[in-house]
Amino acid sequence: MDKMKELAINGGTPAAAGLPPRGHMGKEEKAAVDALFDEMIATGNAPTYHGKQEEAFCKEFAEYLGGGYADGVNSGTNSVFVALRALDLPPFSEVLFGCITDNGGVMPIVMNNCIPIPVDTMPGSFNIGPEQIEARITERTSAIVIAHIMGEPADMPAIMKVAEKYHLPVVEDCAQSHAAKINGQNVGTFGTVAAFSMMSGKHMCAGGQGAAVFTKDEAMYWKVRRCADRGKPFGVKASSSVEISLNFNMDEIHAAIARAQLKKLPYFSAGRQKAVEWLKTHGLYDLKCLTFQQTELKPGFECCYWRLVCQFHADKATCSKDEYVKALAAEGLPVAGDYHAGYPPCHQWFVNRAEQFPWNAPQYKGDRFAAYPCTNAEAALDANFLMMMQENFSDDDCAKIMRAFQKVDAAFAK
Ligand SMILES: Cc1ncc(COP(=O)(O)O)c(C=O)c1O
Repeated sequence: MDKMKELAINGGTPAAAGLPPRGHMGKEEKAAVDALFDEMIATGNAPTYHGKQEEAFCKEFAEYLGGGYADGVNSGTNSVFVALRALDLPPFSEVLFGCITDNGGVMPIVMNNCIPIPVDTMPGSFNIGPEQIEARITERTSAIVIAHIMGEPADMPAIMKVAEKYHLPVVEDCAQSHAAKINGQNVGTFGTVAAFSMMSGKHMCAGGQGAAVFTKDEAMYWKVRRCADRGKPFGVKASSSVEISLNFNMDEIHAAIARAQLKKLPYFSAGRQKAVEWLKTHGLYDLKCLTFQQTELKPGFECCYWRLVCQFHADKATCSKDEYVKALAAEGLPVAGDYHAGYPPCHQWFVNRAEQFPWNAPQYKGDRFAAYPCTNAEAALDANFLMMMQENFSDDDCAKIMRAFQKVDAAFAK
């Protein structure tokens, strides 16, 4: 058998060997940190909170989003926490969240003494939509957290209509979609307040971790600032801390790195879109066993491809999804068959919630044992697998990727 044609999983030559690492941290980030160290050594002082780097980063990030206010914080999880805290939600009220997301987009609801209620996704999608949200709204609902999953914008114009109808504030969790847009408008600018994780694997990162909270509303911004730093009296006339929170400040080193990364953010998105465009015009749609919902978005919706979501059609294949994904991985593709890590309803902490605070508190008037079926999400998680996208995939890399897809598809298509 020709080693190029034989599947790598059976001992053939991998079609996509040697794909490059992302290489998104470069000399620009190093220079920014070096300059900061030079200053620390020259002055003999370490930078403190709310320094020049953070101030500049927040201004630049808000400008990137089209105007408004940003505050740097130290993790995506904490950015969601701060955003929710700034909404002053009534304790024991219910906060809706899209059921496919990271725990970091959900646990902050509990840490704000509220009850997280999972909302099912739209059929075939990882994102939630207006219908699914409306179905879970009760008189106890106090807010909605919308995550834009895998780089795909959730339908914010339609979702905001529902939120406005019920007078509910919306937190946009943009951890996976820093540069996704709807009709040219960035995600994160539709809702009341937005959270952007900048940990290492995200489109832009602040080093190991970091994040920003964004809002267009100045009063909300000052509230965010207070909630991000122990209630210090930012934006209010007081001589002492005015409310209770923790210290979630971003530090100067991470702000300096984030500033360098922000300059690259348009490329991080455009490079991924270009790679997907290349795949689309070189055979992606001819694969027998797969379809790609993110490449078929509503007009005006722009995906920034954190991951490429590949829908596997078992009826068209002679193998299982797992076998197909393992064969692709053996060819050298960065694929993952399972995203249950991003499905909190199946996690132990959520399954065991009824016996925990705040669900078991007498003040909670909902049913702590209620089940919230998410059948669309479970079907999507079962049928889909993910391929890590990178902005630096060249045409040659894309050609290798396509050859790997074609080889595996040809081997398993009915
Ligand atoms: C949708 C979403 N929300 C929140 C988070 C939490 O961010 P962090 O890891 O920076 O705390 C993540 C991280 O993967 C995420 O994907």
